[in-house]
Amino acid sequence: MDIAIIGSGYVGLVTGACFADVRHSVICVDNDQRKIENLQNGVIPLYEPGLEEVVHRNVSANRLRFTTSTAEGVDESQIVFIAVPTPPQPDGSVDLTYIEKVAREISEVLKEYRVIVDKSTVPVKTGEKVADTIRRYAKGSVEFDVVSNPEFLREGCAVADLMNPDRIVIGSNSDRALSLMKKVYEPFMAPIMVTDMNSAELIKHAANSFLALKISYINAMSAICEASGADVERVADGIGADKRIGRSFLNAGLGYGGSCFPKDVAAFVAISDELGVPFTLLKEVQRINQNQMDRFIKKIKDTLWVLKDKRIAVWGLTFKPDTDDVRNSVAIDLVAQLLREGAIVRAYDPKGADKVAEYNLCEGVVLAKSALEAVEDAEALVLANEWNEFQSVDFVQVRKKMHTPLLFDGRNLFDPVTMKELGFIYHGIGRALAR
Ligand SMILES: NC(=O)c1ccc[n+]([C@@H]2O[C@H](COP(=O)([O-])OP(=O)(O)OC[C@H]3O[C@@H](n4cnc5c(N)ncnc54)[C@H](O)[C@@H]3O)[C@@H](O)[C@H]2O)c1
Repeated sequence: MDIAIIGSGYVGLVTGACFADVRHSVICVDNDQRKIENLQNGVIPLYEPGLEEVVHRNVSANRLRFTTSTAEGVDESQIVFIAVPTPPQPDGSVDLTYIEKVAREISEVLKEYRVIVDKSTVPVKTGEKVADTIRRYAKGSVEFDVVSNPEFLREGCAVADLMNPDRIVIGSNSDRALSLMKKVYEPFMAPIMVTDMNSAELIKHAANSFLALKISYINAMSAICEASGADVERVADGIGADKRIGRSFLNAGLGYGGSCFPKDVAAFVAISDELGVPFTLLKEVQRINQNQMDRFIKKIKDTLWVLKDKRIAVWGLTFKPDTDDVRNSVAIDLVAQLLREGAIVRAYDPKGADKVAEYNLCEGVVLAKSALEAVEDAEALVLANEWNEFQSVDFVQVRKKMHTPLLFDGRNLFDPVTMKELGFIYHGIGRALAR
């Protein structure tokens, strides 16, 4: 199939590369000229495990190319995917200006039948509005179908998720569009679920909200564990072993962050309000999430008392391991709060430091080049995300380098008993007894 992807970010670029890898011919479009020039020169603008190799392999095979021209993408493809941002507005509702702009841009260059696929995460009924917009702005009568095809990839394992999806959701009632969409996804050999467009759009918000709810559920449980002397890890194992519940997304921590969960939950709250059926449960999910960070900061303050001039090391800046994505990272919120209290923060992240520096996200933070450099003379170490690398650091060295052996484990990555044996005073999340 000939495919265009409009928006070559975390979703668009990985999707384009994986489509090319199953032998489709793909044009990735972006209006960020620097990004496209970099891609044309073989420079990948984001870190995602395995992505660079897939991109290079498919560029060499002439199945993947890059352009800033939407017209070129639309002209040379049968199917046009939209993967542009859908950021939140101050009231939580979705800013749909990027989607609307792309719809107009497509309409201006549409000459013959195309399937326009919305892969961005959008409020229910957006597809109908995209179709209305294209119809309104198109030059003359031209045939097209709009399809919803939400994306469920996880950053950090996006290539693997795209190559082996749990399911493909396609929202459309056009047989013509459906038969082309099935051809796109045939090589992935995954279950294809066909729904109407509104249901497909709702599935994405419902899925992300449910995952956020699971995280807030275990985080609320962690507060109960702390108050009662139980261990949230054992509770999570106990309930997660039940197949109806499952263990994933039951890891107590600093709360969910990133470019998706906070905005998608807020969007779903706003959408349900607008539909006149307020989803109040999700407001509680948001409250618990905020509360989790507040409780963690309080824990640090209860121990260190005054934070002003305290030397604090932070490991982890990205919103999760195995990515360089720092958008809405709770680790960055944490660093910002420590800095506001006057602490001297030295932070290390295996991949996120460049973006933190580029966007000046934590003014005043010192960016260390290694985990060990970050802890030099520190009065406390805070673990803010769970890169594998942090598990293999030599904690005897860490102990020697630190001024005071205080460890705040915001992701319950370390074993409290081992850390105690190594001489640390360990504070985890919801682990009052710590065995
Ligand atoms: N990142 C994720 O893990 C993830 C997962 C599933 C769904 N989503 C959804 O996918 C969408 C895209 O997310 P992302 O993380 O890839 O965003 P991103 O910011 O990484 O990428 C979006 C790209 O679109 C480009 N763009 C904006 N307007 C354009 C235009 N008019 N023409 C061409 N290019 C344009 C931007 O320059 C940028 O490169 C969002 O709706 C998001 O909610 C994201």
